[in-house]
Formats: sequence, C-alpha cells, structure tokens
Amino acid sequence: MGLTDPRPIGVFDSGVGGLTVLRALRSRFPDESMVYLGDTARVPYGTKSAEVVTRYSLRNAAFLTSQDVKLLVVACNTASSVALPALRASLGIPVVGVIEPGARAAARVSPSGNVGVVGTPGTIASGAYQRALVAERPGIRIQVQACPLFVPLAEEGWVQGDVPRLVAHIYLAPMRQAGIDTLVLGCTHYPLLRGVLAEELGPGVTLVDSADATADEVEALLGRGVAGRAPGGPGALRVYVTDTPDRIPELSARFLGERVERAEHVDIQAG
Ligand code: DGL
Repeated sequence: MGLTDPRPIGVFDSGVGGLTVLRALRSRFPDESMVYLGDTARVPYGTKSAEVVTRYSLRNAAFLTSQDVKLLVVACNTASSVALPALRASLGIPVVGVIEPGARAAARVSPSGNVGVVGTPGTIASGAYQRALVAERPGIRIQVQACPLFVPLAEEGWVQGDVPRLVAHIYLAPMRQAGIDTLVLGCTHYPLLRGVLAEELGPGVTLVDSADATADEVEALLGRGVAGRAPGGPGALRVYVTDTPDRIPELSARFLGERVERAEHVDIQAG
C-alpha cells in the first residue's frame, strides 16, 4: 500500500443529516476523497428499534465497502449508538462513530461536570452517550432529552423564529432547571438549530457538536494505521442516496455548505 492510500473515506447516515459531519471532514481533510451514502428511503432511524437500525447500518456499510473505502465514518448518532459493535465485528476496516468523540469533547469542556444530551428517541434510549460520558468522566451528572421534532424542523429549514424557539423552550426546560453548563448536540440535524438552542440556554452553556470531535478521531487514525491520500488537488466527493435525489441540491447546500448537483440513486434493499 505504501505511505499513501488513495481510497476514499466512506460516510453514511440515515439521510442528509450526516452531511453536517461530512462538512467537518471535508474541511479538515480537503485532499481526501469521500463517498457519502444517505439512506433516505429508510430515514428516520431515530424512531426505529436497535435491531432494525443495526440491519440497515450493516447494509449501508456493505455498499460502502463495495466502493472500496479505507475507513468508515458512521455519521449518524442513532446508528452509532446501537450498531457500532456489529459494524466493527463484520468489517475489516476501521469504523468511527460520532458518540465517543462527542462525549469526550463534552466531558473535557464542561467546567462543572453537569452535562445535557439531546438526541433522537433511539439514541437517548440506547444509553450510549450516558455510558460514554461516565467512562470519560466518572461522577459526571447527565440530563438527557429526546427531541424528535428537531429533525423535521431542520429538514424543512425551520431553524429560526417562533416555532423552533417554542419547541426548544419546551424540550430544554429540564436542562435549564438542572443547570447544565454543556449541551451535546447528539443528532446530526441539531447543529442547524444551534442559534435557537444557544439563545434558549444562554451564554453560560457550551454547545458541543460531535462533527468536529469526529474529525479529530479520523485525523488520529490517518496519522496511525490508515494512510492518507497523497495531496494532488481536492479530494473527490460522490454522494449516493437510496430514495430519489431530487432534494439533494437544496438540502446539501444547507447541511453540507456545498451544493451537490448530482447525487446518484442506489438501491440497497434491506432484508
Ligand atoms: N441521523 C440521525 C441521528 O443523528 C437523525 C435522523 C434520523 O432519525 O434518522 O440520530
């Protein structure tokens, strides 16, 4: 293989939310080629059982390994919270999830060790963030809240104004009462609502987005077992979706910060 490895980094999510993680990866590793798969035919994962999400995740990973990726980033909190052991057991390449990097960052930045986590019902019910935070910082206090309405709000672009503000006010009331100083945005869509969440919680609360922390973990891997691509022009990006790609140009502009004009449809039937 030599010192460089031109194979792409594979990234998957239940839909378009993982483009917020891809954004952090693209900006950190501009030379690396990347293949993104959004399982838009089966989104949302956040309200589905761990068993179903694991089955979908294995299918997504199989598609990406057929694209010869050198490492896999699970850019979905729900999939990361339930499917990592199965993915790691079945793939012969390194697998990076978003939960541990996010928990590590939150445990590090929280001054008092009083941390909140918001995520999908599946992520919160799995207890994955709770376990990762305790492992990072024993004695940490954790408030969790499932916020299912944030996903459709972000997808519809309702990220400012009265509606998201009221929803955030209701969801975050227990966090305010508990006096958290750090909030983990434990879902790929929530960084789009950052403005409203920051306003609701005030300047004393730090918002942690696992995308940057996940890029740190990929950086560490690229420095260790996995070779980087030799510099030579910007890395290519291919985007695949399992439903029609019609909304991808608009949604990619919002979630990725670059307009992807051509996403390809791929049929990966989950058995
Ligand atoms: N990508 C999912 C997550 O980060 C949110 C969307 C969904 O429910 O599938 O948990």
